[in-house]
Amino acid sequence: MSVTELFKNSDKIDDTELQFDEAGRLKHLLTLRGLSRAQITDLLDKSERYLSPMGQPAVRATTLQGRTVANLFFEPSTRTRASFDLAAHRLGADVLNLDVKTSSRKKGESILDTLYTLQAMQIDIFVIRDASAGVPAYIARHVEPHVSILNAGESDISHPTQGLLDLLTIRRHKGDFSKLTVAIIGDIAHSRVARSAAEGLTTMGVGELRLVSPEALAPEPDTVPSARIMHNLDDGIRGADVVMALRIQRERIGSLDGIPGIDEYYKNYGVSSERMCKAAPDAIVMHPGPMNRGIEIESSLADSNQSVITEQVTNGVAVRMAILATVSKTLESQ
Ligand code: CP
Repeated sequence: MSVTELFKNSDKIDDTELQFDEAGRLKHLLTLRGLSRAQITDLLDKSERYLSPMGQPAVRATTLQGRTVANLFFEPSTRTRASFDLAAHRLGADVLNLDVKTSSRKKGESILDTLYTLQAMQIDIFVIRDASAGVPAYIARHVEPHVSILNAGESDISHPTQGLLDLLTIRRHKGDFSKLTVAIIGDIAHSRVARSAAEGLTTMGVGELRLVSPEALAPEPDTVPSARIMHNLDDGIRGADVVMALRIQRERIGSLDGIPGIDEYYKNYGVSSERMCKAAPDAIVMHPGPMNRGIEIESSLADSNQSVITEQVTNGVAVRMAILATVSKTLESQ
């Protein structure tokens, strides 16, 4: 059976409970669903401690000394993989970056057999990215009790550490979430980034959340019940404090029917300096990366003073250090 068949309908699997041990401590990070406002706030506060000013040495600690972290990326990644790697090293862990392209998965080994093999080498924390929904939760159900699973991007379902770094970036610039209007713009339907950001923002009590896209790229209405689903970019951006542009996830779109061509897309949904004039005067511009300049975002806007895109990347390392430190502490008592 293929991985895709194994995990069909797996977005219906409730993996929120699975994340916590019997004492309610975070053991796996699979989704932001089920994390309380206090738990998210605690993770953001911890992340702040791992930030240092640019140009000064990165924060280092020995929190993960003696632990081994394995990065298993079955889908491409630059930011998430590099930042988990750096985060684990900066906390003193041994780190394995499995090269999936030359691993025995290419000879037909199942994902669980790969995990069991690495678990036997005393890996404590697995960081997993996979194109199929349900893989991180499935693995979390099957590993030994002293092992932690961190979701580094799951199909179009969940990207919890991206959600946390987006929250941290917004909080550092804007403070109180309840006073904010956040507009997420682009391919919402296929975006795990949008889902995790929406889940996190909703838990943090965001004032107004707008999901703006062409009809063909809109989410199902019940995906984020608290959000306004909009199709006009000028209306969506008007008065927004935070504007997040998203890439079209072509790798997850079966048919391109109804999806505008590049020029039409940029004209109607491209986030540009001209369009940002309608947002709040001190609005920030975000993008999770990788960016397609000139498609979902104007290139000069991405590099402007309004842009916090490189800060998102910096904050990503701090958030991943906070998560690694948190689950490692939980593992001590298993
Ligand atoms: N934002 C994000 O997940 O980027 P990567 O695909 O490069 O990890």
